[in-house]
Amino acid sequence: MNDIEKARAILRANDRGGYTVPTDRLYPFQWNWDSAFVAMGWGTFDEDAAWREVESLFAGQWDDGMIPHIVFHAPADSYFPGPEVWGTRHRVPTSGITQPPVLATAVRRLWEKGNDRARADAKTASAYPKLLANHRWWRRARDPQGSGLVAILHPWESGMDNSPAWDDAMSRVPTDTVTPIVRRDTGHVDPSHRPRQIDYQRFIHIVDVLRACGWAPASMWAKAPLKIADIATCSILARAESDLAVLAARFGTPAEAAEIGERARAMRAALSACWRPGLGLFASVDLIAERPIDVPTSAGFMPLYADAATPAQAAALGATLDRWAKMVRVLVPSTPPDWPGFEARRYWRGPVWAVVNWMIADGFARAGDAPRADRILADTAKAIAQSGHSENFDPLEGSGGGGGTFSWTAAIDLLLRDRVA
Ligand code: DGY
Repeated sequence: MNDIEKARAILRANDRGGYTVPTDRLYPFQWNWDSAFVAMGWGTFDEDAAWREVESLFAGQWDDGMIPHIVFHAPADSYFPGPEVWGTRHRVPTSGITQPPVLATAVRRLWEKGNDRARADAKTASAYPKLLANHRWWRRARDPQGSGLVAILHPWESGMDNSPAWDDAMSRVPTDTVTPIVRRDTGHVDPSHRPRQIDYQRFIHIVDVLRACGWAPASMWAKAPLKIADIATCSILARAESDLAVLAARFGTPAEAAEIGERARAMRAALSACWRPGLGLFASVDLIAERPIDVPTSAGFMPLYADAATPAQAAALGATLDRWAKMVRVLVPSTPPDWPGFEARRYWRGPVWAVVNWMIADGFARAGDAPRADRILADTAKAIAQSGHSENFDPLEGSGGGGGTFSWTAAIDLLLRDRVA
């Protein structure tokens, strides 16, 4: 099997009939942001499967517009916490929290690249109002004061579960839980690649608090023990708003296009103010402690992806990337090796993630910095060639970590090949 066929075979093997699991057993359901990247990957060779992926994710969308981070389409006992822990009431069992909203970006790409124009138009016309409802939900539920930045209420919402950027805020979250913790993840992969037990105690404590709010956004906002304007989630939403604005011009009304454009502008302005000169990066804001989180992580490059960095900020980000490049074999580590919280193999505390590389490279390219964009993509391809389609990669050695035959890594591999084709 050639390399492109290997990547396609992973998506086919992880397809559960209309949705794609991130990998067998470790993640046996449909995950929100995984799915958006996977839909783009499917789009490079099977447009039907790509649109099915999008529609399956929408099947989990709540009436208020929220798209959950997990849709439990079919039972599986290899994952904790399952639907019984979340106790939500949607038509399809889902979690009660969300994840970075990459979906509008994926739909725009599928629409623009679709070979069957009539189908691409029809599918996008049906997706557009659901995406609009979702972006309005983010604004209402997660930025009630209209700051321009949206907040995550659980580290799982960032997708970067145990990032050292959350350490300080998480240290204030109690470790007691109502829900018994019965981890399954450490039975599937090397436990030293996963979050620690104390992280899980806090993850589940927050789930207990939010479930007790009946998953009602206003009550969750008032009671959440963690509230962070995550620089990556905000950048992804700002970019998604710009992509949705393009769809609005074709499928929406002028009033909607103006509303979306205004939100995108406000978000970019708020992101630009998150610049931290001492770090040479952008940073998240702890909304409970009311202070910026001065921890260097790969998320700090993400405003590039939203066109929110000034030319001077983009140049400083380039210098930061060059400094990091001297310390690693593979860019972009989720945390640089000279940071005390760095762990080369532990999930979001060091490893390289292909999807993050894809977005950061896109950001450098948009800022006119093709050499750095190319370097990041070349490193991504090198790690995949060395270690296969692993969940993530050790930045010092390039070895694979976490789960194997991972859908979003395969999807990025396909997108890389699509780019050079
Ligand atoms: C997990 O279970 O590891 C996920 O990241 C939560 O979404």
